Amino acid sequence: MIEIREALTTRRLVLRPFQAADEDDMYAFESLPEVARYLYNNPRSRAETAAELARRQGQTALREEGDTLVLAVEADGRVIGYVLLEWLSRRHRQGEFGFVFHPGSQGRGYASEAAVEMLRLGFEELGLHRVIGRCDPRNEGSWRLMERLGMRREAHFVESEIFKDEWGSELHYAMLASEWRASRWATAPAG
Ligand SMILES: CC(C)(COP(=O)(O)OP(=O)(O)OC[C@H]1O[C@@H](n2cnc3c(N)ncnc32)[C@H](O)[C@@H]1OP(=O)(O)O)[C@@H](O)C(=O)NCCC(=O)NCCS
Repeated sequence: MIEIREALTTRRLVLRPFQAADEDDMYAFESLPEVARYLYNNPRSRAETAAELARRQGQTALREEGDTLVLAVEADGRVIGYVLLEWLSRRHRQGEFGFVFHPGSQGRGYASEAAVEMLRLGFEELGLHRVIGRCDPRNEGSWRLMERLGMRREAHFVESEIFKDEWGSELHYAMLASEWRASRWATAPAG
């Protein structure tokens, strides 16, 4: 069980639950077609952003499998994106992470820095055995990030789903707790 009550800080970033005042910053990236291109959602209107923000404000803990923790990522006082961690299975100690950033804040390693913090939470706080990440093979920024973190490409499913009205393929990446412990990011022995 994890509950985020206080902000987490990394070298350059603050990770914290979403707040009502984040709507403008959130809309700035949620509304962009290039951000939504490989996400399951479409670019969000103002009203859709407000509804999604309200939902994310409640996603502050992992209490049961199926729960998703979503954290806003702040740099220099602005929300530039978010990261998430979903608890896929309690019995099998599996999780999945994800990351979305404003294009103006990409290319600086911010997404990697925040994603590492989600791996840390998953392995060191929740005691996960394996964390996965999935993306469209055309989403080079996403799979390159996961390779930069030292995750293994475990699968390339070809045209395994209909994604935004066309056949979609999917890459699956994974990291084990043992691989996390051996990585340069581990800060404590994992369960
Ligand atoms: C996927 C996504 C988060 C990747 O963002 P990103 O900024 O490229 O990722 P990183 O934080 O790892 O940054 C890496 C880049 O920063 C550069 N960089 C600069 N300083 C750095 C630092 N201190 N540390 C690491 N990388 C740094 C790297 O060289 C790299 O640049 P390059 O791609 O030109 O080689 C972003 O493209 C995104 O939000 N896309 C839209 C939403 C989406 O599709 N999400 C994933 C769904 S599966």
